[in-house]
Amino acid sequence: MLRIFDTVAQIAPSRSTVLIQGESGTGKELIAKAVHANSPRKEKPFVPVNTGAVPTDLLESTLFGHVKGAFTSAVTAKKGLFEVANGGTLFLDEIGTMPLDTQAKILRVLQDKRFMHLGGTQEIQVDVRIITATNVDLRQAVREGKFREDLFYRLDVIRFELPPLRARREDIPALATHFLRRYSDENELPMRTLSPEALRALMDYDWPGNVRELENVMERGVVLSTSQHIGLELLPPHVTGKSYSSSLLEHSTNASLFDIMEDIERRIIIDKLERCNWNQTEAAEQFRIPLSTLNQKIKRLSVEIKKRTREA
Ligand SMILES: Nc1ncnc2c1ncn2[C@@H]1O[C@H](COP(=O)(O)OP(=O)(O)OP(=O)(O)O)[C@@H](O)[C@H]1O
Ligand SMILES: [Mg+2]
Repeated sequence: MLRIFDTVAQIAPSRSTVLIQGESGTGKELIAKAVHANSPRKEKPFVPVNTGAVPTDLLESTLFGHVKGAFTSAVTAKKGLFEVANGGTLFLDEIGTMPLDTQAKILRVLQDKRFMHLGGTQEIQVDVRIITATNVDLRQAVREGKFREDLFYRLDVIRFELPPLRARREDIPALATHFLRRYSDENELPMRTLSPEALRALMDYDWPGNVRELENVMERGVVLSTSQHIGLELLPPHVTGKSYSSSLLEHSTNASLFDIMEDIERRIIIDKLERCNWNQTEAAEQFRIPLSTLNQKIKRLSVEIKKRTREA
């Protein structure tokens, strides 16, 4: 991470386009903002747009704006984000899913530094630095014909490859401490610290959601904590998964094998339910047991069923 921040400081002053590749939650937007904040453009807007989330037919009017009457619902004229970002930085997130037509137009703006509103006739000149991010391999997308090769080379001037958190476990203690400080402050609590076992569990876990997942786990730990120490019991069961056997085994020397097995079974079931967003049918399917069997276990082990956080 420190190496990456050195490069940020080095390339920020230029106007060159930046391409940031990395899995979800590795800090792509954080780096994009850091580039902007360290550049001479820092007083001008940083405008993020999630090109993957905007519906295709809206994307171009969002980026380029439109004149009144350009299409049926265009009852008033609207500025596009290229104009909003003028003098500053436009952050095109999830660029890998951008439709080919729009890619062609972006390439034109990059080359000519000018564009037209949808339905318009006047050329508009802008000075915008483009930073893009993607969690797909753009080179691969080029090979598959899903991404324009010429645009790829235009965007790939300065590239950051953000490694997944599991590939830089040495960052975990510093990041965890950073988030503990932030969420302790935010909740007006004295600074929370991790027990050695909790830190070991964080180092062992694979972090599919990367830094964002670590941040959420630390926030949860701080909010649930009742003392200065955050131990294993305040980490979600799927994070301590690799240390399943540690709970009752380590904490009570006279627990029966039966109790230990029940404890492990409970953790595995909660873990699966969390991953299935508390959908018991899906969890039963994945366990390859009948739903009725899962329900019996949930009752016997007094697993508390949480509400679903999102629709399946
Ligand atoms: N090195 C870091 N130091 C502190 N916080 C970080 C770091 N890297 C990431 N974060 C935090 O982790 C969270 C996720 O980062 P960010 O939104 O930049 O990821 P992303 O790669 O854009 O994810 P996605 O692909 O899902 O959009 C943010 O809250 C960010 O502040
Ligand atoms: Mg992002």
